[in-house]
Amino acid sequence: MGVEWVRLKLDLDAFDGARFEPYLRRCRQAGVEFTTMAAVGDAARNRRALYDLNRTCSADIPGRGEFYTFDEYLAQRIETPTYDPRGVVLAVDGGSWVGMAATSIRPEGHAFSEMTGVLAGHRGRGLSLAMKLLAIDYARSAGVRWLRTLHHPGNAPAIGMNRRLGFVDDAPPTAMA
Ligand SMILES: CC(C)(COP(=O)(O)OP(=O)(O)OC[C@H]1O[C@@H](n2cnc3c(N)ncnc32)[C@H](O)[C@@H]1OP(=O)(O)O)[C@@H](O)C(=O)NCCC(=O)NCCS
Repeated sequence: MGVEWVRLKLDLDAFDGARFEPYLRRCRQAGVEFTTMAAVGDAARNRRALYDLNRTCSADIPGRGEFYTFDEYLAQRIETPTYDPRGVVLAVDGGSWVGMAATSIRPEGHAFSEMTGVLAGHRGRGLSLAMKLLAIDYARSAGVRWLRTLHHPGNAPAIGMNRRLGFVDDAPPTAMA
């Protein structure tokens, strides 16, 4: 039997970001800076750094299997119509990239949380919530109402993080609003 993926959605019209601002503030006070791929430059060297960060974080996703090669990553994740460097939030600590939250605007009319990841040594500091707040700003600026995501049922940290923000169960794709 296949995996029953956990589908979640967040209503951006109803989302109250002010409740979560303290996460962003605390991260900044601790010296973490937030930027985007667009701001640092969507160039070859930064694409390679994004790949390395994504691959490292993805190793902890249950059932993820083998990660893309760099060329596959470029083809599947970067050189695609929905990739937008403004939608890739980065957390930078001491000059190093320690977290990412990549969001796309789908042709179906909603935003999709492609990947949120924080390096193991930086987890539990509120970094993912802080990055998701900025990802939500990006999705809102695109004018969409829903932010969707999909997780392996064994990924308790990711599911917990999204539910903490107010994500609720989503319908299967055929019945999507
Ligand atoms: C999921 C992940 C991004 C969370 O990052 P993080 O920066 O450690 O999360 P935060 O510190 O921002 O925690 C935010 C909330 O998530 C929830 N959470 C975090 N870790 C959790 C855990 N291990 N179990 C259950 N809930 C958890 C909590 O509700 C927490 O809020 P709180 O601190 O107020 O209790 C991180 O564990 C990770 O990179 N995992 C590997 C990659 C992955 O699975 N990504 C998701 C698939 S796209």
